[in-house]
Amino acid sequence: MMIILLVLALLPFTTALQNGLALTPPMGWLTWQRFRCITNCQKYPSECISEDLIKRTADIMLSEGYLDAGYNYVGIDDCWLEKTRDKRNRLVPDRERFPNGMKAIGDYLHNKGFKFALYQDYGNKTCMGYPGVLGYEAIDVQTFAEWDVDYIKLDGCYVDISKMDTGYPYFGKLMNESGRPMVYSCSWPAYQKKPDYDSIAEHCNLWRNWDDIQDSWSSLSSIMTWFAENQDTIAQYAGPGRWNDPDMLIIGNFGLSLDQAKVQMAIWSILAAPLFMSVDLATIRPEFKEILLNRDIIAIDQDSLGKQGLRVWNKSMTEIWSRELSDGSYAVAFVNRRDDGTPTVMKASFEVMNLPEQTYKVQDLYKEDEDRFFGPDGEFYTRVNPSGVKYFKFVPKISNDVEEKTYFTSRI
Ligand SMILES: *[C@@H]1O[C@H](CO)[C@@H](O)[C@H](O)[C@H]1NC(C)=O
Ligand SMILES: *[C@@H]1O[C@H](CO)[C@@H](O)[C@H](O)[C@H]1NC(C)=O
Ligand SMILES: *[C@@H]1O[C@H](CO)[C@@H](O)[C@H](O)[C@H]1NC(C)=O
Repeated sequence: MMIILLVLALLPFTTALQNGLALTPPMGWLTWQRFRCITNCQKYPSECISEDLIKRTADIMLSEGYLDAGYNYVGIDDCWLEKTRDKRNRLVPDRERFPNGMKAIGDYLHNKGFKFALYQDYGNKTCMGYPGVLGYEAIDVQTFAEWDVDYIKLDGCYVDISKMDTGYPYFGKLMNESGRPMVYSCSWPAYQKKPDYDSIAEHCNLWRNWDDIQDSWSSLSSIMTWFAENQDTIAQYAGPGRWNDPDMLIIGNFGLSLDQAKVQMAIWSILAAPLFMSVDLATIRPEFKEILLNRDIIAIDQDSLGKQGLRVWNKSMTEIWSRELSDGSYAVAFVNRRDDGTPTVMKASFEVMNLPEQTYKVQDLYKEDEDRFFGPDGEFYTRVNPSGVKYFKFVPKISNDVEEKTYFTSRI
């Protein structure tokens, strides 16, 4: 009895999926948000979901530093299938757009140092109407393993929502039994009113909590609001091997300004979110690419403690978000949600930022302001653009040999 109690005391409060994967939030690129279900390669040769798009993207990710920065999963979302299974009931990739099949895609990606992510759906059909896995779970997991898939995103269209609580764990069990380690991305809670997060965190590496992101500030803003309003329920489930997923990065597409793109990168890293770009990397503008490749911000997202940050303060459309990091530092984002007007001065005390009272060296993660020091008896000031962010890392100051007073207030 003693021994059992001791063992129980050593277990984390929520059991994570024991496949050793996604110990930090997965990063990569996924087709959906930008390329949707574009299947007409005659009309849209550079945008259709195809072998060409995947190879071209992987080539760019390798040559332009995305893989180096950590974006290592390359994923095909919906619309890669033929409309019917073959005679042995196996899934068939679209014969024109994936002429060499999926194993060839896996090989291509692996040879370049990437991992292969692929979409399916737990229901009778995928969201866009292609064959889903329901009734064919075992054969499909086997097929994915044979194609050397490393990551399965399992959506939840065309399925009885009440069946998800047993269906998603069952599919995960088959994935485990396949013997191939594959990250398990579940859309399970996004379809339910009262998700059982204990079970979800035990069976999935990551899970989509809420609505799909669209290419707009209003969509991004609504997702931020949802994550803030539900943080008391969901944040505790995030940790190594299990992540809340606010959906893809839309940075570099049509809908966000440069300031708004900085907001997404900052808040996603505070949330310990999976970072999946969905953008045409062949045409992305350099200033957006720079945001996606910001190493300091990626390091915050990938912090080994894996503790999801929170919105700690909000008033009149201005907000402060804060995340504790493994080295005792804090990432703090000041967000101005108003998309009109002039830059707004925001002021914050230790209490408001949720920071232990001590002296910090403050680094601007977008390198717009110079480093400064901030200590007890101070108020922190910063000036934030409309629908913009100021994003800082507060690093506890160890030595006392710097005259912090001289750095005390910022240029505002
Ligand atoms: C899925 O297909 C089965 C078999 O045809 C059917 O009984 C079931 O109602 C379908 N479920 C949904 C949610 O469409
Ligand atoms: C299957 O689950 C066991 C026990 O949780 C784990 O040790 C093993 O690594 C898993 N294998 C795969 C391929 O996920
Ligand atoms: C802060 O956010 C909550 C939840 O979104 C909202 O209900 C509340 O009105 C906000 N508070 C202020 C002062 O804006």
